[in-house]
Amino acid sequence: MRLTPSGPLRGRLTVPGDKSISHRAVILGAIARGTTEITNFLPGGDCLRTVACMEALGAEVERRSPTHLRVRGRGLDGLREPEDVLDVGNSGTTIRLLTGLLAGQRFFSVLTGDASIRRRPMGRVVRPLTEMGAEIRGRQGGERAPLAVQGRALRPVHYRSPVASAQVKSAVLLAGLTCEGETAVTEPAPSRDHTERMLAGFGARVRRQGLTAAVEGRPDLEGQRVDVPGDISSAAFLLVAAALVPGSEVVIEGVGVNPTRTGILDVLAAMGAAVELQNPREAAGEPVADLYVRSAPGLRGAEIGGELIPRLIDEIPVLAVAACAAEGTTVIRDAAELRVKESDRLAALATELGRLGARVEERPDGLVIHGGGLRGGRAQAHGDHRLAMALGVAGLVAPEGVEVEGAESVDVSFPGFWDVLAGLVR
Ligand code: S3P
Repeated sequence: MRLTPSGPLRGRLTVPGDKSISHRAVILGAIARGTTEITNFLPGGDCLRTVACMEALGAEVERRSPTHLRVRGRGLDGLREPEDVLDVGNSGTTIRLLTGLLAGQRFFSVLTGDASIRRRPMGRVVRPLTEMGAEIRGRQGGERAPLAVQGRALRPVHYRSPVASAQVKSAVLLAGLTCEGETAVTEPAPSRDHTERMLAGFGARVRRQGLTAAVEGRPDLEGQRVDVPGDISSAAFLLVAAALVPGSEVVIEGVGVNPTRTGILDVLAAMGAAVELQNPREAAGEPVADLYVRSAPGLRGAEIGGELIPRLIDEIPVLAVAACAAEGTTVIRDAAELRVKESDRLAALATELGRLGARVEERPDGLVIHGGGLRGGRAQAHGDHRLAMALGVAGLVAPEGVEVEGAESVDVSFPGFWDVLAGLVR
C-alpha cells in the first residue's frame, strides 16, 4: 500500500466495533443462559477466531450479518470438549481469555496460534491459573503456546498481578466464574475494565475497589443485548491523521470512551490537538461519544509514561508517528510491554520510523523521538496490524510518501482501513 501526502481529511464516519468488547461479548454470550444479541460486532481476524473457538466448544453462533451475531448460550457448564486444537490465529486476547475460561471446564483442550502468538508470554496467565489449581502445560515450562489445558475444579484466589494487563486480569476472573467463592485480581495500575463491566451486565456479582476487581463464582449469567461501541484504538489512527494533515475536520461517531482507554485523548491534548467529545451517551455499559477533531498545526512533543501507558497501550505506534511530525522531543517510558505485543513494537517502530527518516532512539522500556518530520520511503509492518496503520498515517505527512509492506494485516482489527482512510481525503 502506497500513501502520499494528501488534501485535507473531511467527513463524518464510524469505525468498526471495539475488539476487546467484541471478544468478551461472544465469550460471555456462550456461557450465559439464553440468547445474546451482538450488534456492531467487529468482524476482524482476531474476533472471528474467538467465534470459531467458541463454536468448537459447542456454542451456537448465528451470523445475522458480519456485524450482527446471535449467540445461543450453553450456560457455565454447557461447553464441550473440542474435537481439535483451538487456533487463535494472531489473537492474544483469545488465547489468554480462553485459557482462563477453559482451566475450570471438565475437559481437555489445546490452544495455539500463529508464529507471533507462539512467541508471546503465556506464563503470565498460566502462573495465576496454576495457583487456582489448574493443570496447564506449554512449551518452555508453560511460557509459550501451544498450551494444553486439562480442565478441573479450581479454587478461588486473590492474585496480585505484576503486570497491568487486562488479558491476565480477565483470564483469572473467567476462571473464577467456575469455582465457589470470590476470585480477585489486584493490578499495579488500572488496565481496561471491559470484562468487569460486562460480567456485571450479564448478572455476575462484581466487586471493584481501587486496583482490585473481584467476581463471585458460579453466577447465573443471563444473555444480553450488546451494542458494541466503536473502537477508540481504531479511531486513534484517524484522529492522528486528521490532527496532522492541514485543513482536516473529522467526526467519528459512536466511539467507546471508557476512561481506561482514553489515554490517547490526553496525549493528543498535551501535544496541542484537542479532541472534542460530543453527544456523550452509554452503550453496553460503556461510555460512548462522537469524537470531533481538527488539524492542529505545530504539535508539540510529549512525555508518555507511568499509569498512562495501560490507557493507551495499543495507541503508541500511531502516537510515535505523531511525535515524529511534532516539534520537539517525545519521551515514551514504562512501555516494555510493547515488546511482547503482536510484534516487538519498540524495536519495530525504531527501525521502521528510522527508515522513513525519523530520529528515534530505542530504550529498554520505551522510545525517545526527536520531532521535525519524516522523509518517507518503504517500511515493513512486521505482520502487525497497528504498525501497518501507523505507517500508513505516516505516509500522509511524509513528503516522499510511504510504501507499507504487509498492509493486509489491518484486517486483524480494522477491516477496510485503507478504503476508510482514502474515503476521507478531499
Ligand atoms: C486487550 C488488552 C491489552 C491490549 C490488547 C487487547 C484485551 O493487552 O493490548 O490489544 O482485550 O484485554 P494486555 O492487557 O495484555 O496489555
